[in-house]
Amino acid sequence: MDMDVKDSVIACMEEWRGEVGNLIMILHEIQNRHGFVPRPASLLLSDLLEIPLARIYEVLTFYHYFKLVPPGKHDLIVCNGTACYLKGAGRLLGELETRLGIKDGDTTEDRLFHIETVRCIGCCGMSPAMIVDGKTLGKLGPSDVAGMIETIRKEEAANEAADA
Ligand code: FES
Repeated sequence: MDMDVKDSVIACMEEWRGEVGNLIMILHEIQNRHGFVPRPASLLLSDLLEIPLARIYEVLTFYHYFKLVPPGKHDLIVCNGTACYLKGAGRLLGELETRLGIKDGDTTEDRLFHIETVRCIGCCGMSPAMIVDGKTLGKLGPSDVAGMIETIRKEEAANEAADA
């Protein structure tokens, strides 16, 4: 097992030892450290806390917040609340899924992009809205989405060339 994962599981357990409801707090802490909850971490927790692995996965899959795979470098969050839904959020999502070849909730194989849908993000006046790498954007159409993927890809290629 990756020593980093092992060390962090043990450190998180130490931090929450004896606390009520510590499993969920430990899982939060692991996700904070790694960006997701690696399977080896769940296996080790199951052993150390003497909790069935299935119980840990019940918690992980019940809360939408937890991620079971490493997140993408660029988060593309589509608001699918009522206002955005009515103004074409589905078309934005469809464009993302087609261009990136992944579905809502997935990350591309190169770990560059992650797509996620969420409920209202509180800016219905600019629907359909998205949050891209933490920045809120509104009144978007499929061509904007195509452009943003293109821009990110170009920036990544330029960064790679600069590092080479
Ligand atoms: S429904 Fe999308 S911002 Fe409110």
